[in-house]
Amino acid sequence: MNASDKAPKSDAGKSAILDIAGKQITMPVRSGTVGPDVIDIGKVYANTGAFTYDPGFTSTANCSSKITFIDGDKGVLLYRGYPIEQLAEHSSHLEVCYLLLNGELPNQKQFEEFRGIVSRHTMVHEQMTRFYQGFRRDAHPMAVMCGSVGALSAFYHDSTDINDPRQRIIAAHRMIAKMPTMAAMAYKYSIGQPFIYPRNDLDYTANFLQMCFAVPCEPYSVNPILARALDRIFILHADHEQNASTSTVRLAGSSGANPFACIAAGIACLWGPAHGGANEAALKMLEEIGTVKNIKSHVEKVKDKNSGVRLMGFGHRVYKNYDPRAKVMQKTTHEVLKLLGVNDPLLEVAMELEQIALHDDFFIEKKLYPNVDFYSGIVLRALGFPVSMFTVLFAVARTVGWIAQWKEMIEDPEQKIGRPRQLYVGSGPRDYVQVDKRA
Ligand code: CMC
Repeated sequence: MNASDKAPKSDAGKSAILDIAGKQITMPVRSGTVGPDVIDIGKVYANTGAFTYDPGFTSTANCSSKITFIDGDKGVLLYRGYPIEQLAEHSSHLEVCYLLLNGELPNQKQFEEFRGIVSRHTMVHEQMTRFYQGFRRDAHPMAVMCGSVGALSAFYHDSTDINDPRQRIIAAHRMIAKMPTMAAMAYKYSIGQPFIYPRNDLDYTANFLQMCFAVPCEPYSVNPILARALDRIFILHADHEQNASTSTVRLAGSSGANPFACIAAGIACLWGPAHGGANEAALKMLEEIGTVKNIKSHVEKVKDKNSGVRLMGFGHRVYKNYDPRAKVMQKTTHEVLKLLGVNDPLLEVAMELEQIALHDDFFIEKKLYPNVDFYSGIVLRALGFPVSMFTVLFAVARTVGWIAQWKEMIEDPEQKIGRPRQLYVGSGPRDYVQVDKRA
């Protein structure tokens, strides 16, 4: 067959030819606004009987998206076209939520309207407060988040019809509004303090801080500079295109599952130490190293392939250059520690470790640079959060990315249920053997 005759149209004016055992097929090549072209392999199986093989999706685009762009070689991250550095400097997390969800920055009126809507969804169903009692007090807050966020679908039936655009947007607003409340509840539950209700006169992040750190028996006022620092951290984590947890949300959603269940799936994926759990793992690593004089031996361990030890907070699937979020995070860490007058010896360890790694051939050759999680633990600890809450904070920030990507997927005419194939390497067909005849 000369498949090139039937080749679908390529929007990049280019095509790719695959030759498999002398049989050639031509595949269209599609171009995005910026970034690498993609070869559309959708018809490869139909035309050749072979699957493509790409564990970990290292070369595979699973969707088209207008939300976030990363150039990993140059260290560029754009939300809806806007550089992360500019958003971190000038925007607020709630404004970034609007941007990611709607595609454009809001004008003043649109922002006030959005703020009003999100504020009115900050409380959770009162029965949810009793739901928490079922968890052990010493449960990891991420375990509590997996369960409690999944349970939202049992409380908000009126926003689980994914085919209704109005319900989709209400679900998005609910998720953005309720995640801080639920994260704060997970924290309060873990330390045995009463839940603190949201205060809608405060801005998004200041409200979160008061729900975490206020107690009913005395007044609490949020330090605006610390609230601004945490808000900036939220901006840095708000979206990161098709990372593992976002792809999990999309895959769960591709079957038509409701958005609350999909976000719970994303939270479960985020928890792993190779992903959002790295902020917790990075701080634990710095604590284990303890002082500058122990860095060298730790680096040697990392370089020993057989040790299985990785430098946590270093390396990234996409960034082969300095993670732009890590630069902002490092600056924020210095600012917060200075403001609080905290002299955290782990900052010195982190800075020295970074310098050693950046000048070591092992890390240079593998293009391993600090990622967003390398410094975040130090600043979050200085803000008063225990290590077990670090990944929860990541989840609060990433919620908007998950829900925006979920919504984009549902509204995408090309969307289908995600159903990867496999290279089967198990036993061939064989007959059942009665138990008394088995060796
Ligand atoms: N320390 C030591 N070696 C590393 C590290 C590291 N942190 N990261 C990668 N490598 C090595 C790895 O051993 C491999 O070497 P070789 O080619 O000799 O086998 C090579 O670099 C490529 O690694 P990989 O595991 O194939 O790369 P990946 O793209 O699959 O992994 C990663 C990306 C983020 C999982 C990995 O770099 C890692 O485990 N980093 C530590 C965990 C971490 O900080 N994760 C947070 C990521 S940023 C926040 C987020 O997105 O959640």
